[in-house]
Amino acid sequence: MDKIYIRGGNPLHGRVDIGGSKNDSLAIMAAALLIPGKTVLQNVPRNLDVHTLIDIFRHLGVQSSFLQNGGLEIDATKVTNSTAPHDLVRQMRASFNILGALLARCGYASVAMPGGCDFGARPVNFHIKGLEQLGCKLNLEHGVYTGEVKRFEGAIIFLEFPSAGTTQHLMIAACCGKGRTVIENCAMEPEVLNLALFLNACGAVIEGAGSPTITIDGVEELHPTEFAILPDRLQASTYALAAAITGGDVIIANAIPSHCGPVMAKLQETGAEVIPMEEGLRIRRTGKIQPTDLKTMPHPGFPTDIQQPFASLLSIADGVSMITETVYESRFQYTAELRKLGAVIRVEGRNAKITGVKKLSGAPVTCTDLRGGAAMVIAGLAAEGETEIDGLEHLDRGYEDLVSKLRGLGAQVSRGSERAAVGGLRVCSA
Ligand code: EPU
Repeated sequence: MDKIYIRGGNPLHGRVDIGGSKNDSLAIMAAALLIPGKTVLQNVPRNLDVHTLIDIFRHLGVQSSFLQNGGLEIDATKVTNSTAPHDLVRQMRASFNILGALLARCGYASVAMPGGCDFGARPVNFHIKGLEQLGCKLNLEHGVYTGEVKRFEGAIIFLEFPSAGTTQHLMIAACCGKGRTVIENCAMEPEVLNLALFLNACGAVIEGAGSPTITIDGVEELHPTEFAILPDRLQASTYALAAAITGGDVIIANAIPSHCGPVMAKLQETGAEVIPMEEGLRIRRTGKIQPTDLKTMPHPGFPTDIQQPFASLLSIADGVSMITETVYESRFQYTAELRKLGAVIRVEGRNAKITGVKKLSGAPVTCTDLRGGAAMVIAGLAAEGETEIDGLEHLDRGYEDLVSKLRGLGAQVSRGSERAAVGGLRVCSA
């Protein structure tokens, strides 16, 4: 198995281009199952999750291929099978959104309970309750949901929590339903709005996406279109942290400043300069890293997916910081790995108290999950000596070309499976 090897200490400089958003791609790809014809999506990242969904689609009789112009073409002219391969669905949470799309398209579907990173229970009860309110009968047997519906029917749905996945799933299910659906207490993530823009470009009638109330007037059928995936705000924030922790100066090209607002506000509190530019964001740090407190919240609050690499930055701040996780019941597994690099972190329930140390020092660590992996990389960039990171199957789910992008900024980083003869850094395969 490959590992990433980082010799920390180099301030990062230059410009990095942010690719398309994983989470936006996965939601819009699921929606493409509704559409008889060839949908083309620009800016889809070629990461592990996208490839897993392409594999799932193949089992459904839906062929997808990357075109010469870089677009991903999804040919859902026909969906010949609406039983999703359980082993693939169990690999990631976002695959569950195909349940609503398959039911709407085929009238019958069978999809396993989804997998994904382990942050505690991660139930799908909001999804199921919402689909049932739209008029579908669902059965759970041996971990697999099977459902039938002639056509979804409009309903008024109140979400207990502004769940991103549920909001997206119900929009997908309801847009070809009969009558009007109103969803209250919706997630307001940029990816929710972009999904609505995509569906509307295909003929759906959705209003209010990006606000707490979304109204969907069902249409008979959607038509294919060509559409662009958003730049990945989570990657943009991760590279911003790489610049800040190393005392660097980096332009994060394509980043949409308003999508990264809560992270940038906290970065400024730590003493980094955040300069919005026409082409994205510029992040620069020269002074000490100041401690700060942060609390994860649904968008537009501080994203739960960035508290991990932010913890790496705070672990060498000049004082004590507190991170409070309110979105997931258990998302601090990575802190045990950060401690191996010398971080001083005490976790109590949903709080992590981080006492800044003068420096981190390299050690072998593991990615406990996707964003926990990002925390290891960010910490490794600042740690003295060599950090060796394994468990890359997590990191590969969401950060394509990570090693080459960091190298482009001057980081000493490589990926491979063997030790180089001398000099510390290993043989590189990426
Ligand atoms: N929840 C329930 N029941 C449900 C659905 C959600 O209790 O039926 C709970 C979850 O357990 C969690 C909270 O509601 O405590 C929020 O979950 P949400 O549904 O918003 O998360 P998600 O849609 O499953 C997406 C992203 C995650 C990101 C969250 C929160 C994708 C594919 N995943 O997950 O991204 O953390 O929203 O913003 O879009 C990542 O990229 O690393 C990642 C995990």
